[in-house]
Amino acid sequence: MAVMPMNWKIHHVKSVDSTQHLLREKAVSGADEGTVVYADKQTGGRGRQGRQWDSPTGNLYCSLLLKPECSLQEAGLYAFIVAVALANTIEDIIDTDGIQPKLKWPNDVLIEKRKCAGILLETETNSKNIVTHLFIGFGVNILPQEEGDRIGLSDYAEGVLRETVLNNFLKNLEYFINIYRKNGFLEIASAWRSYAFGLGERGRARTVSGEYHGVFKDLDDDGALLLLLDNGDIKRITAGDVYFEK
Ligand code: BTN
Repeated sequence: MAVMPMNWKIHHVKSVDSTQHLLREKAVSGADEGTVVYADKQTGGRGRQGRQWDSPTGNLYCSLLLKPECSLQEAGLYAFIVAVALANTIEDIIDTDGIQPKLKWPNDVLIEKRKCAGILLETETNSKNIVTHLFIGFGVNILPQEEGDRIGLSDYAEGVLRETVLNNFLKNLEYFINIYRKNGFLEIASAWRSYAFGLGERGRARTVSGEYHGVFKDLDDDGALLLLLDNGDIKRITAGDVYFEK
């Protein structure tokens, strides 16, 4: 696939139900690839697997449009590309000795085991099942979080601006998209592994077909999580949530 500079066109709104929804509306009206929307707050922010995404003013809520013209399976790889770009962005911003953001499969960004950012991918396909529109939504917690399983960038750095996070992220995303389009997924997978949370550790994966326990062995070449089960079999997990024991 040809490597092309992304032409990001950024729109800001004060309040919206979900930036994913707003971006879909823009796509219906013919928005170009590279259209980006971000909001001060969301009244109906959505997370993965039908969960709600709390969206008070002060964090970053953003969705961007790609038109990859690829299979659904390939579109799923963009979650890893986005995750690596986000981890890279956050790493530079927190710049704290010995603390590195981690990626929990499939694509949560954690700092010190607490969630700092999440990614939601939604697609539109044509009659041949080709992905014509890829809606990439991500939320980055910036507000300090006193307690709970969330963490914000302000817990590590002073004066973090959403626009700085967004602009740095878009530069990184373009860089990693180009790496992927030039060299394929292997380089992305190895960047993802360098941030991986729980690699080599025992955990469990909760999927629609059941719960599996084992050791997180690796990320497969197509983004699946490879779990070494207690009976010695390798189970490929392609969708679900993982939890680690430590
Ligand atoms: C997750 O970890 O469950 C994914 C969270 C994705 C949240 C973002 S915030 C911007 C965009 N709009 C939404 O409604 N959701 C995504």
